[in-house]
Amino acid sequence: METSNSFLLLIILIILVIILLVMAVFWKCIKVETFFKTVKTTGTLSVPDYFSGNLRTISHFSYKTLKKATRDFHPKYQLGIGGFGTVYRGVLDDGRTIAVKQLSVGTSKQGENEFLAEVKMITSIQHKNLVRLVGCCSEGAQRLLIYEYMQNGSLDNNLFENGESFLNWKTRFQIILGVARGLRYLHEDSNLRIVHRDIKASNILLDDKFQPKISDFGLARFFPEDQAYLSTKFAGTLGYTAPEYAIRGELSEKADIYSFGVLVLEIISSRKNTDLTLPTEMQYLPEYAWKLYERSKIIELVDPKLKVDGTVERDVLLVCDVALLCLQPYPSLRPPMSEIVVMLACKTEPPPAPMKPAFLDRKNRFSTESTFLVPSPSPFRIDSPSSHIEK
Ligand SMILES: Nc1ncnc2c1ncn2[C@@H]1O[C@H](COP(=O)(O)OP(=O)(O)OP(=O)(O)O)[C@@H](O)[C@H]1O
Ligand SMILES: [Mg+2]
Repeated sequence: METSNSFLLLIILIILVIILLVMAVFWKCIKVETFFKTVKTTGTLSVPDYFSGNLRTISHFSYKTLKKATRDFHPKYQLGIGGFGTVYRGVLDDGRTIAVKQLSVGTSKQGENEFLAEVKMITSIQHKNLVRLVGCCSEGAQRLLIYEYMQNGSLDNNLFENGESFLNWKTRFQIILGVARGLRYLHEDSNLRIVHRDIKASNILLDDKFQPKISDFGLARFFPEDQAYLSTKFAGTLGYTAPEYAIRGELSEKADIYSFGVLVLEIISSRKNTDLTLPTEMQYLPEYAWKLYERSKIIELVDPKLKVDGTVERDVLLVCDVALLCLQPYPSLRPPMSEIVVMLACKTEPPPAPMKPAFLDRKNRFSTESTFLVPSPSPFRIDSPSSHIEK
């Protein structure tokens, strides 16, 4: 009798322990779920607001890590200084080389806004012709962006006087086409409609194979569908800036297309868009290109160091036509990037004859009151690129 009582007691005890165990597990699950619910509805508890959404997928670097990678931001590791701060080369403990953009401390609200815009944008858009953002750092007043390191630096360092390397035509064409593809993605293929606003040679970076990648989306903004955005602040760089944006602040993807046109002329000629040391008629590249084009001498624009054989000449003329199409005065006349990519990639259909680029009135060139000279169509119409080859 006593034995059966003890046995019963043991069974009751085991059942109690099992019930307690089940309750404990159940309670733990509820707590975890509640915790996640709280995080979801109130935003992250310890991580700042801007790490929400797709930013969770990028790495967050500590300031200490970046300090170590750049040898305490040593000037020797400086890659360049831009409008929003200094860029350093860094090497992480795992051996990866990175480019660290340290946004100027004290740029206050503006600096932070640029930072947030850039981080948000770059993480959500990815393309082989866009520089990849590896991560970011935000500690106290410090705002840093960490990019993949581009071995061959920026296009301006390779293209212009005393460039680090000589770019042959094949490479230049590859750069033009790559930039066109990157822009097509930004304007037409990414889930956001993005106007870069600052397309220029220093914002085109070159990887180890001299493939181009567009950098710096800090100036770009989200865009309401099918609506030209009127900027509140002038953000571009003057020599590359479309007249309607420079004068009236009207910004659309057509402003990037204009800047692309200027960039293409720079790539062909290895010269900057504005050079006041040159004779007057040569000082402004688009203007000079048009003059040569009208005289059927556009081939004279080509960098004399480039070996121009028959194939190169055909390509150069096609590319010049494309550039002049992009520089047309009315934004609506400039072709969309998808058409430009087809023209460049297929090299078959000659683009339609361009209209004279818009020039800002020389006298008031740098004033906001500049007049926008809308030219009449060229009397010199060309039906095929070969018709303006200098014979
Ligand atoms: N990811 C990178 N890899 C290698 N070099 C880089 C990288 N990012 C920037 N650089 C170098 O640092 C320089 C400065 O870049 P930064 O973007 O700060 O200035 P910028 O392009 O001259 O002007 P802006 O501020 O108007 O963009 C670039 O010209 C380039 O040489
Ligand atoms: Mg830049």
